[in-house]
Amino acid sequence: MTRYLNEIVFLRLFRGTLGKHIQRFIVLCLILLFFNYVLITLNINQDPYLQYGVIFKDEGQSINTFNNSITSESHKLLVVIVSHVTEIRTRKLIREFMFGIKNNLRPCMEQNGNIYYKFLVKIYQGVNYKILKEFKAEVMEYDDIIEFPNITFNVDWQKIVLTWIQSLENEISYDYVAIIDSHSVVDLNKLRQIIDSSVINTYTLTPKQKFYLVWGRFDIQTADDMFIILGRGSIDILLNFDYFIMPNRNKTLIELFPNRISMAYYYFEVENLTDERKLFFINDQIGMIEWTNSVKTIPIEETIGVGHVYLEIDVKDLIAHLSISKSTICHPIKHENGKLSIALVTSSFIYDDMCMYPIADNITDNKRRYAKKHGYSFVARSEEYTQQRFFKKRKDVWGKIDAIEKVLPHYDWVFWMDMDAVIANHDITIEQLFENFEKMVGKEKFNEISFVIARPRDDSMVSAGVFLIKNSEWSRKFLRETQKQRKYYNYGLREQLAMAVLMRREEYKNGALYLNEDDRTFNTYPDRYIPGDFVVHWAPDYKCPAENVLDGIKKLKKSIRGSDSPLKILKSNRFKEKLLAIAILSNSKSVFHRNEQRASQYI
Ligand SMILES: *[C@@H]1O[C@H](CO)[C@@H](O)[C@H](O)[C@H]1NC(C)=O
Ligand SMILES: *[C@@H]1O[C@H](CO)[C@@H](O)[C@H](O)[C@H]1NC(C)=O
Ligand SMILES: *[C@@H]1O[C@H](CO)[C@@H](O)[C@H](O)[C@H]1NC(C)=O
Ligand SMILES: *[C@@H]1O[C@H](CO)[C@@H](O)[C@H](O)[C@H]1NC(C)=O
Ligand SMILES: *[C@@H]1O[C@H](CO)[C@@H](O)[C@H](O)[C@H]1NC(C)=O
Repeated sequence: MTRYLNEIVFLRLFRGTLGKHIQRFIVLCLILLFFNYVLITLNINQDPYLQYGVIFKDEGQSINTFNNSITSESHKLLVVIVSHVTEIRTRKLIREFMFGIKNNLRPCMEQNGNIYYKFLVKIYQGVNYKILKEFKAEVMEYDDIIEFPNITFNVDWQKIVLTWIQSLENEISYDYVAIIDSHSVVDLNKLRQIIDSSVINTYTLTPKQKFYLVWGRFDIQTADDMFIILGRGSIDILLNFDYFIMPNRNKTLIELFPNRISMAYYYFEVENLTDERKLFFINDQIGMIEWTNSVKTIPIEETIGVGHVYLEIDVKDLIAHLSISKSTICHPIKHENGKLSIALVTSSFIYDDMCMYPIADNITDNKRRYAKKHGYSFVARSEEYTQQRFFKKRKDVWGKIDAIEKVLPHYDWVFWMDMDAVIANHDITIEQLFENFEKMVGKEKFNEISFVIARPRDDSMVSAGVFLIKNSEWSRKFLRETQKQRKYYNYGLREQLAMAVLMRREEYKNGALYLNEDDRTFNTYPDRYIPGDFVVHWAPDYKCPAENVLDGIKKLKKSIRGSDSPLKILKSNRFKEKLLAIAILSNSKSVFHRNEQRASQYI
């Protein structure tokens, strides 16, 4: 080959031993380029629409454009699970069997696998408040729920779902969408293998057919609420499909095909009413079946999903029977060497008065955003609170200590924030705090510290609303000992008083860093706020702080959005604006009696 290529003029320029090497090098490059070209071409031929996001034209008309992530080996699947607000247990089960999420002790902070999922939850009016508060805790803890309040029974729900899917276009990239009912058991890995193979029930799909795929079960009543897999191109068409203009629509038909997608199936497939059909329907009677009430009658090989399974025991049987394996939704970010693993931990327990319920999303968003920004985990816990009153015969707030004992072993440090504490300055990091503490007490001394807590000015004791605690022998002992302080179970400032008393003891003194009269580091009451402060803590006085907290968040957002950040103004010489900056958050409406017994009811 080299000999032939030698004839090419430019190669003759290289003579002698060095020249030969250069020649060989150039030939090698040419060969590599050629193979590269062949590989890319083959790849495109295999699946041009789905792998490279090309514009494709059909009958001279541009149909759709989309971009796919070229880096991913496999197709990306958006999984939308439709469920009702009351189905908290069902969602728990689905999280575990589909995605391997048993709890949120080490949460997935960013879904970045080949599968991205969300629960779409309908919230009907008149749901019991006890369910609502439990549901809100779930929302705060898992960050995988999109709420649709006030959906009425006869609404075009599939339209709402498709509209939401469409709205994601700029947020995540996906090639296929699986709309799954919460009572369906689906093997997502099998589903993805089949999509990748392009062969569904011995039918080999062309790339165009895959792009316009509508794959589900449409021939039995309400079957299309079990599962539907859509190619990316079919979403717009289904959304714009106006089934009310169907020529021979009649009542029987609407009863037979109550939903938009099965209507479209009927319209395009059964009646064959249009020449310009673009959607590619598969009515899958083999892979997608209804629950037959016994696993013995469910074929293992062919089955991809089983719909209308309502009992937990049946779901578990099916998972075992079909050997359904979990899909990874999260590739944890590689930990930088020497970087501490830190969790921002908070309560997601809503008290019976529903005080914090209306602002639960806002306070969670505030903390989660901060944690994401700096590579910390965000962990919200509620169940530890629910076990206090009945089983442990002490105030709910003791759940905080149970929660910290549970979370702490998974991290180097836990940064505890009460529900009513809000990150005011998202630029301050925990590592920066540690650096400051090292400067304050010396590096060596800080190495011995396991607990950092502040006593705000004028308070009679430390505030347990915000603190740092290290995963260490000291902390384990300290927390265990705190748990034993029975006299504070229902008395005084409960867990706060217990901690305040214990940390003064000889055996614990050296492990605690006591920030005396400190309104700046991480526990600033709203009336003392100075722009630039890290955390504002709305410690309440027998009054629900929700309104004030929301008001504060609003003001903080505004001040951050302004062209000059309050911090910058404060550093500048502009005196008048400085006063304004200081005033931004200091006009809180609530009255504080911090020396009095603080109502720890809300924290
Ligand atoms: C898709 O790709 C084109 C060309 O690479 C680019 O100009 C466009 O911004 C991309 N669109 C999206 C939504 O990523
Ligand atoms: C839902 O409906 C109720 C009663 O009609 C109303 O009070 C409430 O504001 C609605 N919620 C939303 C989020 O629209
Ligand atoms: C309605 O449509 C169904 C299905 O095509 C058909 O069997 C039935 O005869 C129709 N009824 C009327 C009243 O047109
Ligand atoms: C649907 O109609 C077209 C022409 O209108 C015809 O070519 C095609 O064979 C029909 N398909 C079925 C499944 O009846
Ligand atoms: C609070 O959260 C709700 C729901 O997510 C949102 O609509 C509202 O804008 C938020 N308010 C503030 C002040 O962030």
